[in-house]
Amino acid sequence: MTILPRDPNGCPYLILAPMEGVGDRCFRKAMASVGGFDEAVTEFMRVPINAHVKSLARQYRSDETAPIPQAAQLMGSDPELMAAMAQEVEKRGAPRIDLNCGCPSNTVTGKGAGSSLLKEPNALYQIARAMVKAVSVPVTVKMRSGFEDTSLFKENLLAAQESGIRFLTLHPRTKVDGYGPPAKWELIAEAKSLLKIPLVGNGDILNVQDALNMLKVTGCDALMIGRGSVINPFIFHQIRAHFANIEYRPQWNVLARYFNVYLKEISPDMPARSQVNKMKQLMGFLFKGNAALLARRQAVLSSSHPSLESFMDYAVPLLQEAW
Ligand SMILES: Cc1cc2nc3c(=O)[nH]c(=O)nc-3n(C[C@H](O)[C@H](O)[C@H](O)COP(=O)(O)O)c2cc1C
Repeated sequence: MTILPRDPNGCPYLILAPMEGVGDRCFRKAMASVGGFDEAVTEFMRVPINAHVKSLARQYRSDETAPIPQAAQLMGSDPELMAAMAQEVEKRGAPRIDLNCGCPSNTVTGKGAGSSLLKEPNALYQIARAMVKAVSVPVTVKMRSGFEDTSLFKENLLAAQESGIRFLTLHPRTKVDGYGPPAKWELIAEAKSLLKIPLVGNGDILNVQDALNMLKVTGCDALMIGRGSVINPFIFHQIRAHFANIEYRPQWNVLARYFNVYLKEISPDMPARSQVNKMKQLMGFLFKGNAALLARRQAVLSSSHPSLESFMDYAVPLLQEAW
């Protein structure tokens, strides 16, 4: 099986990035209704010490983005538990299992998982190796360029590769960088020259031109896009269309369906205020994607509404008008 195959027009494999909070099940399902990407990934599933992996694994469902495959991302620090959890999600149909080596959250990093693994290449190796040995589906690693600095960058890349993972995704910011300074694409180019396994480039792709630039500057094999897809759910189709030499025109009815899927997934048990806030978070990104809408973003985010329906009645016509 070729891993990360290009499409018939030469478009590289496109992956919807894991995004805890923003990129939850509602968003991934809504994005699947728009389509254009080859694979989705769950947000990280935490595997704490003493975890009961059988029950933990129940949060994973392989069919959320069907027919688009959805990989499972795991975050933890205990090799045995991570291997056991990998086996559980494999049983639940995960087509690929990813090890999170990037989450900057202190509650996470305090326990030696996520980006903390970048301080100890050997720990990263041990966990990835245990996962690789435990399952038959591909295991992969998603990492930042370092914890405080990039002094262990090369060691971490090689430790990950040595473990037997099938590909690596690099978000070239350190843990300390958070999401602030521009992603250092030159580190993706450096990783490409060091690694034998395929490399997925990630970070700051907001439009077709960014995607083309990343491919050119870094030579990476595939692309992963996170925030750019929340701002513009059509970005994957637009990139794909570029390679097919056709124009992709975003259609309002596709966006309307995206909202319907998203709304249907919001739990009715959630308090009305939280439902509105959740939708505001999504709209906040969408309103960044268009100059006419950007001017109204603050007003939309600070407006107050008694229910999700009334918020949608207010915000959707604004979106449609600028469309
Ligand atoms: C709100 C948010 C949540 C994220 N959650 C995760 C996560 O659960 N696992 C992970 O590996 N990366 C996570 N990331 C990082 C993204 O997957 C991605 O690496 C980063 O946002 C850079 O890509 P982008 O510029 O295309 O968004 C998250 C990013 C954001 C903005």
